[in-house]
Order: sequence, then C-alpha cells, then structure tokens
Amino acid sequence: MRLDKFLSNMGIGTRTEVKQLLKKKHVKIDDKIETSPKKQVDPKSETVKVNEQPIHYIDYVYLMLNKPKGYISATEDNKQKTVLDLIDDYQYLDIFPVGRLDKDTEGLLLITNDGQFNHQLMSPVKHVAKTYEVISEKNITKNDINAFKVGIELNEGLTKPAKLVQGDEVNKSFVTIYEGRYHQVKRMFHAINNEVTALKRTSIGDLQLDSTLEPGEYRHLTQQDFELLGLK
Ligand code: URA
Repeated sequence: MRLDKFLSNMGIGTRTEVKQLLKKKHVKIDDKIETSPKKQVDPKSETVKVNEQPIHYIDYVYLMLNKPKGYISATEDNKQKTVLDLIDDYQYLDIFPVGRLDKDTEGLLLITNDGQFNHQLMSPVKHVAKTYEVISEKNITKNDINAFKVGIELNEGLTKPAKLVQGDEVNKSFVTIYEGRYHQVKRMFHAINNEVTALKRTSIGDLQLDSTLEPGEYRHLTQQDFELLGLK
C-alpha cells in the first residue's frame, strides 16, 4: 500500500496533510526517515512511526453502540443527526451501521466496516434473533403471546414466528424476532390492536447490550462478543 494512503486511512490526516508530514521528515519506516508519499509499505511487517509514535494497522473495526433516540441509522444526512455522528474515531475506515433502528428506537446497534460481518447478521436467510424491550399502550395478553408464536399477518405477508414475553412491569414486554422488516415490531403490535410507545433493542443473537454503556457511548466488540454472535 502507498505510504500516504496508509497514513490517511489510519486517520493521521488528509492526503495533503500527510504529504506535509512526510516533507517535514516526521515519518519513519523501520526507524528510517521516509519522505516519499508513493513509497510502498507493508504495515503488517514494517513499523511506521509519525513523530516517533507507532501507527498500528487496523483493517476492520467492530463497535457496539448504545444508540440514543433522535439519531438515524445512516452514514450521512443533510438535515438529521446520524449514528456515525456519535463515533469519534474510525470514520476514515468507512464504517456503517449493521442494519437499522428507527430514529426513535434506542439500544444495541453494531457499527463496522466489514461487509461480510454485516451480511452474517442481517441476511434474511440467517434468521439471527433480535430482541427488543417494548413499552406499549396496553398490556399484552395470552392471546397476543399465542398470535406472535404463530406469526403476525402484515400487509406484505405473515411474519416468522416470534417470541413475546411479559416484562416485569405493566405495559412492558420483550419480543424476539428472526427477521428485520421495516418497522417490524411497531407494525406487529399495531396488528394486535396495541401500539408501541418506546422501543429498545436489547440483544442480537446471544449478545446483549452492555449495561455499562450510556446512550451515545460505544465500545469495541471482544472475542467473547463474537462468540455470542455465533461468529468467530
Ligand atoms: N422494529 C421497529 O418497529 N423499529 C425498530 O427500530 C426495530 C424493529
């Protein structure tokens, strides 16, 4: 990879800024000053330093965000705040949200730049479970639980069987779905003559939202998190 591309991909600066750093002899490869932006570098076997600080190579990034309300699940928008506005680092790695949560939905949202990872979790054929905490206008009934177990008729057809469980408070329940249709949970509740008033995603597969993350905070996924997602 070209040295200027590597440095700008690692967030050191724009290509122009990187050229300036090179010109001013601030960059070393294996402790030798390098000034050419075109110089080929293998960041896995060579150590690149800027102002004596080693620049570690990252190709993929995997983050768990506790999405707050009021942010859209997109990479950019002219008018609205996007979930990427909450991420301070890694923008240069072309990160994006894994699937979507509605603007007014909170909770677990994964952010990555790995298309394969996104596919593993979001492809409709993989049936990865997603669980939501729901606050609804009315309390759920035994009939509702049974109706979800069978599948709910939406205008485009029957949903896959879903799990509905009463929560520990009135009007609170947990729903697990195995697909990701547009506004799915809200529309399923609407179909049983109820309305969602607040929605929070609490897990994807066996990976739960880290309870130490305040809304708007994020952290890197760990090896254990990958295992909980059924990925290695
Ligand atoms: N279902 C919804 O209705 N909204 C979401 O954000 C996620 C699932």
